[in-house]
Amino acid sequence: MAILVTGGAGYIGSHTVLALLERGDDVVVIDNLSNSSRESLSRVEALTGKTLTLYVEDVLNRDALKTIFEQHKITDIIHFAGLKSVGESVQKPIEYYENNVNGSLILLDEMLSAGVKNFIFSSSATVYGNSEIIPLHEGCKVGGTTNPYGTSKLMIEQILSDVALANPELRITCLRYFNPVGAHPSGKIGEDPNGVPCNLLPYITQVAIGKLTCLSIYGGDYPTKDGTGVRDYIHVMDLASGHLAALDHKDKGASFKKFNLGTGVGYSVLDLIAAFENASGISVNYKIVERRPGDIAECWSDSSLAAQELGWKATRKLDEMMRDSWNWQQKNPNGYLE
Ligand code: NAD
Ligand code: UFG
Repeated sequence: MAILVTGGAGYIGSHTVLALLERGDDVVVIDNLSNSSRESLSRVEALTGKTLTLYVEDVLNRDALKTIFEQHKITDIIHFAGLKSVGESVQKPIEYYENNVNGSLILLDEMLSAGVKNFIFSSSATVYGNSEIIPLHEGCKVGGTTNPYGTSKLMIEQILSDVALANPELRITCLRYFNPVGAHPSGKIGEDPNGVPCNLLPYITQVAIGKLTCLSIYGGDYPTKDGTGVRDYIHVMDLASGHLAALDHKDKGASFKKFNLGTGVGYSVLDLIAAFENASGISVNYKIVERRPGDIAECWSDSSLAAQELGWKATRKLDEMMRDSWNWQQKNPNGYLE
């Protein structure tokens, strides 16, 4: 019996694989390494003292999926594999829909053929678009996404809902992540963005370590407490434990479920910089520039449904997120390359 983790070599996947191995699960990973390296999983094995099986393959490759389902008794699938850059998705919509939507369709089809019943999907707060209701809860309207990445998540959620309706024996869970940050406290695994980071915290840590010179804060005139954008930052280890909670809950409730995974607290860009400076003792050079197109003013979660139904709650605070991100950056200035 094993859990198939697609995209398991990536940022959130590697931390979740670690948590699965630590509690004794057998793990099979499929990852095409398009945005990751084997090194993350080698480090996960070293940290846990356990081994996993890695297939360096694409989820679009049906034959590879068939082989995996033939070779292993897969009971559950956690589907992280996908392209995730909002800006890139605007430039390359076909690649994003092909990889994210078609990849999910092929995986679901092969999963049904193999008789696997439990499926957990990496969704995103982005499915809520620019909601007028804050905090966001699972009953809020979805839609109004502003880029192909966000729309691909929305489309996959719809497909999953339809597949669950047609196959009531399935247990499908969409986990809507808010803003994942942080790293394993060892500093051995963490987020390793390609090129110049698009996300806030990796940009801050690269300014702090001297790889980048100045953080541009996108907008200082939002209707928020200090004019900068507000988000719900969640430690990646808390996200990982959210997946374990969802796995444990699989036999309960409806065939299609969706949960927010956030902390329920919003912090501004300036809050984040202050918290980072406090944790690292380094002052971050920044300037306020124009708003970034497509950004929303604020977004944070009501994650009480996950607390009630999954018995899960994020426990790590902002200072821990900053400490662990900085620890990872300092120990791996060039990510997994060294
Ligand atoms: P990541 O890029 O680090 O991990 C994704 C992994 O999937 C990578 O290892 C990549 O090589 C692999 N992959 C991509 N396409 C593949 C394919 N066709 N076949 C096989 N492997 C493939 O990203 P992450 O931050 O760990 O995100 C994981 C999931 O969570 C993604 O689906 C992402 O959209 C979603 N998500 C991420 C965030 C975030 O801010 N990081 C927020 C919300 C949702
Ligand atoms: N920001 C800056 N400067 C930067 C980068 C970001 O000021 O260099 C600001 C943004 O304007 C925003 C906040 O920092 O106010 C967070 O921005 P991120 O790019 O880190 O994250 P987003 O909230 O835009 O999006 C992230 C993921 C999406 C995901 C979404 C919700 O990138 O994939 O969280 O989960 F959909």
